[in-house]
Amino acid sequence: MAQDDRYTLATGELGAHRLSILNIIHKPYTEFLFRQVGLEPGMLVADIGCGTGNVSNWLAQQVGSAGSVFGVDMSAAQLEKARQNAEAQGLSNIKFTLGSAVPTIQDYLKNLLTTF
Ligand SMILES: C[S@@+](CC[C@H](N)C(=O)[O-])C[C@H]1O[C@@H](n2cnc3c(N)ncnc32)[C@H](O)[C@@H]1O
Repeated sequence: MAQDDRYTLATGELGAHRLSILNIIHKPYTEFLFRQVGLEPGMLVADIGCGTGNVSNWLAQQVGSAGSVFGVDMSAAQLEKARQNAEAQGLSNIKFTLGSAVPTIQDYLKNLLTTF
């Protein structure tokens, strides 16, 4: 897949190794932060700029089958990798969506508000 020129760093297969190293480095306090803000099984969590899905996958494990993760990224190459990673880990409670952060969040919130 072609490199996305809207994002400076490598995406998809080319950037996956870098992101996996970053994930190892930042994982402890990322997970600590999520726990501090009250991450629990059953929650619906949005991961905006989800990249190759390292954090999305961990979130999906934490929220479990009663919860779900909504991953958004503007790079199709990143999402292709994210879907492969989720499938390899047998995670079915993640939905990855191609889109730009702001309009996607606005759409998403609109749908949420209609459920009240
Ligand atoms: C550092 S990476 C995320 C890494 C991710 N946590 C992981 O585990 O792979 C940042 C991501 O944000 C995405 N991104 C940057 N600006 C964006 C925007 N405006 N809308 C959607 N995605 C965006 C990039 O395509 C990139 O995949």
